[in-house]
Amino acid sequence: MAGPAGPTPAAPGARRAAVEGGGWPARRAIRSLRPSFLFESRPEDEGLVNLRDNENPFAGPHRRYPDNTNRPLVGLYADALDVLEGHGAAAAAPPEDWRWGPETILLTRGAGDALDLVFRAFFEPRADAVAVTPPFFALFDELAAVHEVERLRGPLLGPGHDRLDVPTLARSGAAGVILCDPGNPSGTSLRQGEVERLLAAYDGLVVVDEAYVEYTGRASHRHLVPRHPNLVVVRSMSKALGLAGLRLGAVLAQPGIVAALRRARLPFALPAPVAAEAAAALADPAALRRGVEMFTAERDRLAAGLRRCPGILWVGAAAGFVTVRTERPASEVAGRLRAAGLAVLPDPMGWRGRLRFSVGEPADNDRLLAVLAENGVHIDEREGPT
Ligand SMILES: Cc1ncc(COP(=O)(O)O)c(C=O)c1O
Repeated sequence: MAGPAGPTPAAPGARRAAVEGGGWPARRAIRSLRPSFLFESRPEDEGLVNLRDNENPFAGPHRRYPDNTNRPLVGLYADALDVLEGHGAAAAAPPEDWRWGPETILLTRGAGDALDLVFRAFFEPRADAVAVTPPFFALFDELAAVHEVERLRGPLLGPGHDRLDVPTLARSGAAGVILCDPGNPSGTSLRQGEVERLLAAYDGLVVVDEAYVEYTGRASHRHLVPRHPNLVVVRSMSKALGLAGLRLGAVLAQPGIVAALRRARLPFALPAPVAAEAAAALADPAALRRGVEMFTAERDRLAAGLRRCPGILWVGAAAGFVTVRTERPASEVAGRLRAAGLAVLPDPMGWRGRLRFSVGEPADNDRLLAVLAENGVHIDEREGPT
């Protein structure tokens, strides 16, 4: 495991001891915090006049602070999960006493906010380390930098970038392993059982960013949560649900973890109009699922076209985009596409020699394929090396 020398990370054994004592251990500062604004209800709900919240009674429709618990929206999201994931409730029935609800789901301002909260609540600045699995989502690195948490690296293994280096990650001494499945920028999904292998071998927090899970053919790792107090699943409503402008995501984890995250976050996190818009969308999960299926059909069509394209050596298409490896340098291919009016991402998140393509409208995807087939990526033998 390559990583810069840094402060000594917390011993994994100490963490396991804390779990046995009940709940996953949050940072010292979070454990001792007594948040002032954990309001569960408004005075009006009890028939009282609200002289508590310093709102302006003379102002317009947005004068009230929003609901601080988001219970109705959590309920709608929880009810919609099986449909959104496309596997049905049969994927893995939770234990009898398990409930997906406000104790096990925290709604956040996007998956990015969810990841930030995990760092705020669980990783001690200038003491802890987290392990990431290159190629990895750049935000993990940025959050670790902001929160002054050391980064250790255990790259994804195999030609399909679909296996974890479990022994290395488990022995890393990191307080957490941050995974992205399906991966951005890899565009691949971990093989079945990889996360369970890590959970069996590792004592720290396992965070799985599943921003794109609705686009995969596999079940969400959330089904492992009831059996694993150290598993945190992060979700986004920006991608498959098509609600990027609302800025909504979620953390799914055991109640101790969700309670710590709630304490670590700022009060009144979700604006009322956002919650209302999301509630309207989540009220019809079947319509959202149809949108996911339209998207994946077009993504698969694009990926098939790319696989047929001379000079494309590898295609990863398990997430909400397609990543390819090309014969020609990625920046050169991106330059040619740009000249044809198409902006793509070369060397995504520092993963050299790859290009990441968003899934566009069919006509734009056809244009992409046409430009690539014409003169984009293939190195003609007569040209010699570039
Ligand atoms: C892997 C991954 N995680 C998290 C995010 C952030 O998602 P959100 O818009 O929900 O903050 C993204 C956005 O591109 C992503 O690709």
